[in-house]
Amino acid sequence: MASRVRYVDDPIDGLRALSVGFWSTDKTDRIRRYVDACWAARTHFSQRTYIDLFCGPGRVYERFGKEWQDGSAVSAFSQSILKGGAFTKFIIGDIDSENLRVCAERISRRGGKPILLLGPAHETVVQAIKHVDHSGLNLAVLDPFNLNLLQFSVISALAKLKHVDIIAHFSLMDLRRNLITQYRDGGGSFDLVAPNWRVHVPAKQLNKREAPQAFENYWIKLVEQTGLKPSLNRPVFKNARRAELYRLILFSRKDLAHKIWNSAASDLTQRGFYF
Ligand SMILES: C[S@@+](CC[C@H](N)C(=O)[O-])C[C@H]1O[C@@H](n2cnc3c(N)ncnc32)[C@H](O)[C@@H]1O
Repeated sequence: MASRVRYVDDPIDGLRALSVGFWSTDKTDRIRRYVDACWAARTHFSQRTYIDLFCGPGRVYERFGKEWQDGSAVSAFSQSILKGGAFTKFIIGDIDSENLRVCAERISRRGGKPILLLGPAHETVVQAIKHVDHSGLNLAVLDPFNLNLLQFSVISALAKLKHVDIIAHFSLMDLRRNLITQYRDGGGSFDLVAPNWRVHVPAKQLNKREAPQAFENYWIKLVEQTGLKPSLNRPVFKNARRAELYRLILFSRKDLAHKIWNSAASDLTQRGFYF
């Protein structure tokens, strides 16, 4: 996945865009619909912050349909200024300085003034929290390439905010590919995603489907311990061969956020079909 990352120049602005499959633009569209559907809820807060610590370059090229589209941060920004409740602060981060620069440029060209955080998410989250007004409403999007980058310390830091919704990309493919090896070898990056998982996930006694499911359940329980509730609607995104790639999941303390997400994040052709 990360090793197959490809960039192409967007003919509209000449800046780099990430080459993606249709599943990625579907993901961005559900995040955008959530941002749209929350506009009225956001107006109840004077401070409204968007945090995207894996922002990418801000534009994507969907190589199957050969279409250019906004990535998560640019599309969330553009959507939020269409109605009321625009984000009052926009924080973007990435480990890749060129991605961060062009994402910021694209948001600036649309009228925004993003705060830029260069570095790995487990470090930039600390700076992001310092910029946030603690009585405000916050939406954090965590969209890493791989599961190992979804470090639990990032989620637990964000969960300390009073009003926070977190949309996380949870890589099912990564989990299936690497779980047994990491269980057998000890150590490994999943320890950072779900600390102590081996104690709770007896991977060797479970079959190929049960073991990843047990890991995911344990991860969700860990996040729940921070006080955030997981969404019922956790759409799964599949590639052209119908292999499951990842889920999107919302964590929030607010029932209203869950109600909105359950509708906004549904597959428009299969509303109500949650898993
Ligand atoms: C899947 S892309 C993000 C795509 C973006 N959300 C969009 O919709 O266009 C993941 C991004 O994470 C960045 N990245 C990789 N490792 C990271 C890390 N440890 N911390 C922060 N960003 C990282 C990559 O440079 C890449 O831009």
